[in-house]
Amino acid sequence: MKDFLAISDCSTQQLRELLDESSSLKAQYKSGQRNLCLAGKVLAMLFEKPSLRTRMSFQVAMLDLGGHAIYVKPEDIGGIGKREPIKDMARVLSRYVDGIMARTFEHKSVTELAQYADIPVINALTDWSHPCQAMADVLTMKEHLGRIEGVKIAFVGDGNNVARSLALAAGKLGMKMAVASPAGYELDAASIDTTNGFAAGCLVQTNDPRAAVADADIIYTDTWVSMGQEEEKEKRRQDFAGFEVNADLVAAAPPHAKIMHCLPAYRGFEISDDVVESPNSIIFDQAENRLHFQRALLKKLMA
Ligand code: CP
Ligand code: NVA
Repeated sequence: MKDFLAISDCSTQQLRELLDESSSLKAQYKSGQRNLCLAGKVLAMLFEKPSLRTRMSFQVAMLDLGGHAIYVKPEDIGGIGKREPIKDMARVLSRYVDGIMARTFEHKSVTELAQYADIPVINALTDWSHPCQAMADVLTMKEHLGRIEGVKIAFVGDGNNVARSLALAAGKLGMKMAVASPAGYELDAASIDTTNGFAAGCLVQTNDPRAAVADADIIYTDTWVSMGQEEEKEKRRQDFAGFEVNADLVAAAPPHAKIMHCLPAYRGFEISDDVVESPNSIIFDQAENRLHFQRALLKKLMA
């Protein structure tokens, strides 16, 4: 495993090992111990889009493991693939640092970085996927439900990067998922086929949020307007009417169903404030687990 670009590139065993390592490092750090396996190592973090959780959790994870992280804004380097080709950036960075993480618009920017870099490349979100988020999410589900196998996720909202990576993780790890989206915002057919190729029938796409949550252990949502889609904001908000995760929708789910959101949340649109703040919300444990998964991933790729 040189890079971490997509859930679909990893075997079930690799994903399980990463989850186990996340739990083990989490316990180690919670008990005050430290693991300095990345002493002297440097991670370059390239961002074309804003970030709170991903940037901070990777930076803290590098510090925790004894290493160092350098945050690079696109304007600092004249853009990714604009001032110079991505293949040149990849080869230059390979001579300075020990790993690259990148958040880009186009997915092919991270795959091209990985193709030309001699060092590990981590996908920190692209328009297509958000694999680090999906792994932190599964870790959170495992902690709260005590199992992964057979867990039923209802993803209510846009068939976007977050939904896609979570679906692929569900397929690889024996979970079930229903994605409820308005017409025109479903997950693409290829991702549905790939997921169901990992585990037949594990993913269902519907236009009915109430049907999706009826037997759910987890109700998950994400913004209706992803980074880069700001010009479509008004149209999307109209098209997604009826898809808010609010008390009414939660009442259609089993009482034990937990609420998840990758954040940032737009209260009053994809989720209501009372649901974010409700006792069944595990949203902030989910955000914390970004750090615990990031440590395990960095250790696996860079130690
Ligand atoms: N969930 C997530 O990736 O958050 P950021 O955009 O703040 O990194
Ligand atoms: N789907 C969202 C996720 C943000 C973490 C986006 O791409 O903007």
